[in-house]
Order: sequence, then structure tokens, then C-alpha cells
Amino acid sequence: MNADLEGPDRRAALTRDIIERTGIDEAAIEAFVRAFYAAARTDASIGPKFDGVIDWEAHVARITCFWRSVALMTGDYHGQPMQAHAHLRLEPAHFARWLSLFEEVARARFTPEGAEHMLDRARRIARSLEMGLIPLDLPALGKAAAGRAG
Ligand code: HEM
Repeated sequence: MNADLEGPDRRAALTRDIIERTGIDEAAIEAFVRAFYAAARTDASIGPKFDGVIDWEAHVARITCFWRSVALMTGDYHGQPMQAHAHLRLEPAHFARWLSLFEEVARARFTPEGAEHMLDRARRIARSLEMGLIPLDLPALGKAAAGRAG
């Protein structure tokens, strides 16, 4: 077996399998990304967070690459989403709105299998971004610390 080819071959086979099973391909991802951000940037809750995006074509290209990597396992996205969001002061309500818009647009544009495939990944990544970005509010710990101090 050729070890050099094993990784890329396996990845390509996985990508083909996902496309076959879900109907999601790169063109569908780009169309989805455009529709999602058209909705997100005009949304009352999360829209203002996108005011700083100057080059929307570059943003669409980057996010398309991200979703191609995540959903089709192409492995060609090399960004740092946590850092990209650090300055935005996102709150749990923003994540909830982002996810509900994502679900609405995904269900409208993909097959049921495709929408589930995207949503499963979106929910997991959103949870980990949210946990990384928003400090936990732990009143019980606060009380314990205050008790010790007093
Ligand atoms: C809570 C709501 C969210 C808001 C308001 C938001 C907003 C933004 C903004 C303003 C940027 C920076 C664009 C730029 O300056 O070029 C960005 C980048 C990005 N966002 Fe979000 N985002 C949210 C949640 C998410 C979630 C849940 C994901 C993934 C599932 C995600 C994936 C990304 C990625 C991959 C980038 C590009 C990072 C890079 O530069 O490589 N975002 N987002």
C-alpha cells in the first residue's frame, strides 16, 4: 500500500460518499452560504455584528471554504474561528439566533439528510465557540469564594 496516497485517497472517498448521501456539493454550499449571510446581515439581532465585514465576496469565499472543509471533509480551511469572533462580544442570544437562521436556510435549501448533516456540525461548532467565547456564569462558585473570603 502506498502510504502517501492513503490519506488523500481516503479523504476523497469520504467526500464522494458524503456528496452521494447528502446531495451537498461545493456549489450547493456556496449558494447556501450566500443565502445564509443575506439573511444574517439584515437580521435585527445578529445583523449589526457584521457591520465590520467590508469585503463580502472574500467573506463568502472564506466561509464556503470553512463549510467545504467541515461538511465535505476536504481539509482545506486553515483559519481560527475562535479568534475571528473574539472582538464581537457575542452573547448566548446571538448564538441562538445564528443557529435558528442557519436551520431555516439549511432546511429550505438542502435535502433532509443534507440539512441534518450541516446542522449537526453547525450546532457542535457553535457550542464550542460559545463555550470558548462566553465566560461561564457560576453563581454557586462565586458564593463559595465569597464565603471563604468572609
Ligand atoms: C453568534 C453569531 C455569530 C456572529 C454574529 C458571527 C459573525 C462573524 C463575523 C463578523 C465574522 C468576521 C468576518 C470578517 O471580519 O471578515 C465571522 C467569521 C467567521 N465565522 Fe462567524 N459569527 C457567528 C457565529 C458563527 C458560528 C456558530 C460559526 C460556525 C459554525 C461561525 C463561523 C465563522 C467562520 C469560519 C468565520 C471566518 C473565520 C476566518 O477568518 O477564518 N460563526 N463571523
